[in-house]
Amino acid sequence: MAAIVALLCTLFVFSVSSPGDALSLDYYDKTCPQAESTITNVVKKAMTNDNTVPAALLRMHFHDCFIRGCDGSVLLKSVGNNQAEKDGPPNISLHAFYVIDNAKKAIESVCPGVVSCADILALAARDAVALSGGPTWEVPKGRKDGRVSKASETRQLPAPTFNISQLQQSFSQRGLSMADLVALSGGHTLGFAHCSSFQNRIHNFSPNSDIDPSMNQAFATSLRIVCPAHNKVKNAGSTMDSSVTTFDNTYYKLLLQGKSLFSSDQALLTTSKTKSLVSKFASSQADFNKAFVKSMIKMSSLAGGQEVRLDCRVVN
Ligand code: HEM
Ligand SMILES: *[C@@H]1O[C@H](CO)[C@@H](O)[C@H](O)[C@H]1NC(C)=O
Ligand SMILES: *[C@@H]1O[C@H](CO)[C@@H](O)[C@H](O)[C@H]1NC(C)=O
Repeated sequence: MAAIVALLCTLFVFSVSSPGDALSLDYYDKTCPQAESTITNVVKKAMTNDNTVPAALLRMHFHDCFIRGCDGSVLLKSVGNNQAEKDGPPNISLHAFYVIDNAKKAIESVCPGVVSCADILALAARDAVALSGGPTWEVPKGRKDGRVSKASETRQLPAPTFNISQLQQSFSQRGLSMADLVALSGGHTLGFAHCSSFQNRIHNFSPNSDIDPSMNQAFATSLRIVCPAHNKVKNAGSTMDSSVTTFDNTYYKLLLQGKSLFSSDQALLTTSKTKSLVSKFASSQADFNKAFVKSMIKMSSLAGGQEVRLDCRVVN
């Protein structure tokens, strides 16, 4: 019996990650010991000039991992007639690519050709959370950069209009659970959303109701002022929560009050299992931090790529 269990465990481990490309905490200890501190310094500096940088880095890493694994495909630029991910439809708030370029440049000058762009992005996302008052953690490293980036594949990203079953499907296709979904949605404690991302909830929601009835009505009204039905203001929108540059559990507290922006946020309250996790995270910052770290490590370990890119915007 014990032997069978051991065999099954071995098979399971090998099916999740092939032995050759498993990530490890000490991956750059010998080849580039300065890698992490170099990235942290670049992120710190960028944040002092622009407080939207942390949110941008966290979202960029999420998009990277959800398409072809965490392989830096989100960083590639369009070449010839290949339109890259970053020029695909939901790129509206992807920005701060220059931070990754700066980190890569700084690292190449100390240990050329060693640190992948995918690892730089994973580390920068961790730094973004930690430097915004959130938890910190050790990032397993050794990701490789991919050679393919297609705008058409951004359709694989979950949409803000998704309901709970669509979200579950999107996450489970990547080996992520409902618990991961609830914890990672807490990333919406940072940053900003454009009107188009929550328009469906505040205008023509249904034949019976202009506004999503699950929203706090005063909150919806205030959003309608910033985002009128035929909004013409290009960068109009709302901060994700009331403490937009602080990584905390405010997102969950507001969610329970009907003050979330997206249908996909509200959807977390539609099953008892996800709702109880929302309540747990709303009442404990420590529980949220712990769960977020666990799920981030899981998401950021989705495999991709095969090379270490020399310039994060172009394949070797
Ligand atoms: C569960 C599925 C998710 C959906 C449907 C979703 C959707 C969105 C949308 C529509 C925006 C606003 C884009 C805009 O209007 O500019 C956004 C922003 C953001 N998302 Fe998500 N997201 C999801 C999961 C995640 C995850 C897993 C993370 C990271 C752990 C994340 C982090 C962020 C951040 C930080 C922003 C703000 C970006 C900025 O201000 O630059 N999201 N998300
Ligand atoms: C988003 O895509 C459009 C084209 O679809 C492009 O012009 C724009 O530069 C892209 N934004 C970013 C930040 O790459
Ligand atoms: C979610 O949306 C899909 C597609 O519109 C639909 O088939 C499904 O029944 C919905 N699920 C829930 C729980 O509302």
